[in-house]
Amino acid sequence: MRMPPVKKPVSKQVVDSLNRFEESFLTVLDEVAPEISEPSLTAIKAGGKRLRPALVIIAAGLGADIDEAGLRNACAAVELVHLASLVHDDVLDGADTRRGVSTINANYGHRRAILIGDYLFGTAFRLLAGCDDNRLIAPLAEASVLLSQGELQQRQALRRLDQTIEDYLTRIYTKTAALFVASCLMGARLAGVSEPVAEALRDYAEGLGIAFQIYDDILDFTGNEKALGKPVGSDIREGTVTLPMIYGLRLDGNGALAEAILDPRDEAVCNAVEHVIACGAIDQAKALATEYVDKAMAAANALPDGASKKDLLALGKFVIDRYH
Ligand code: FPP
Ligand code: MG
Repeated sequence: MRMPPVKKPVSKQVVDSLNRFEESFLTVLDEVAPEISEPSLTAIKAGGKRLRPALVIIAAGLGADIDEAGLRNACAAVELVHLASLVHDDVLDGADTRRGVSTINANYGHRRAILIGDYLFGTAFRLLAGCDDNRLIAPLAEASVLLSQGELQQRQALRRLDQTIEDYLTRIYTKTAALFVASCLMGARLAGVSEPVAEALRDYAEGLGIAFQIYDDILDFTGNEKALGKPVGSDIREGTVTLPMIYGLRLDGNGALAEAILDPRDEAVCNAVEHVIACGAIDQAKALATEYVDKAMAAANALPDGASKKDLLALGKFVIDRYH
């Protein structure tokens, strides 16, 4: 299943820019040996919403006369770091499919997948090093460090039932929102915006990224296998304790959820999914996600009027609609 890029809610200008990025993105690996380029292109072509490049483009739209090559490289760099992290994530999870497509580790084995992830990650920074503007590197380097930390925290917290909402929020900030923040800050640097505008963009990206991950974790319960590209209840099976589970554990009258997290047999997982939906945990998680979308919208509303502000507000709405 190829997930369509996030084009519906944004303006034609952003869609055109995303199309130009997509064309150039497919050529990033043109000169590379087939043992690297073939698996890498599987990851690139498997699609994805291209949400992070869209954020770079929209934030950059706050400035005038943006360097088109710099913009394309910044978009490619954030998307490459994102893809590299997914390739490594699939190795860590032992996942066979992502977005309905066979993963690199399933097709070529874990060792090669680790190296392909490394290659994509290195290519991201090589592209940025080729840009005139050195200030693009710092946000992406920071996000990469946080991403790895977030993933490590998640591994260390596997099957731990004593996690707080604060633990979860810290983890999803590092794991997901940090790259949203980097995308907006890279766009902000290309645009040369003032510090207060950059701060508003940072707040927007943080709120949107956290809400996005909460919705993603909700969909693991309420989505369907075809749309998710992976089985429902995967987080319980992996032992990743997400927000719906934290709420669900609090409301877990007969201990069925705790039991499934600790011993994820098929029947136990199915019962636990039903319990989380029935006990109101999803509604509580949705309410917290809405608070973060509201924070993002408030930050966007503080930006100067114009096309970028409209696009950021539309993206916020897109993230909410994704759930409904
Ligand atoms: C997918 O989310 C995974 C991430 C958002 C981050 C993965 C990060 C790493 C593996 C660290 C490596 C970092 C770099 C910079 C290469 P998910 O696991 O919640 O969801 P999914 O597996 O169902 O897509
Ligand atoms: Mg995963």
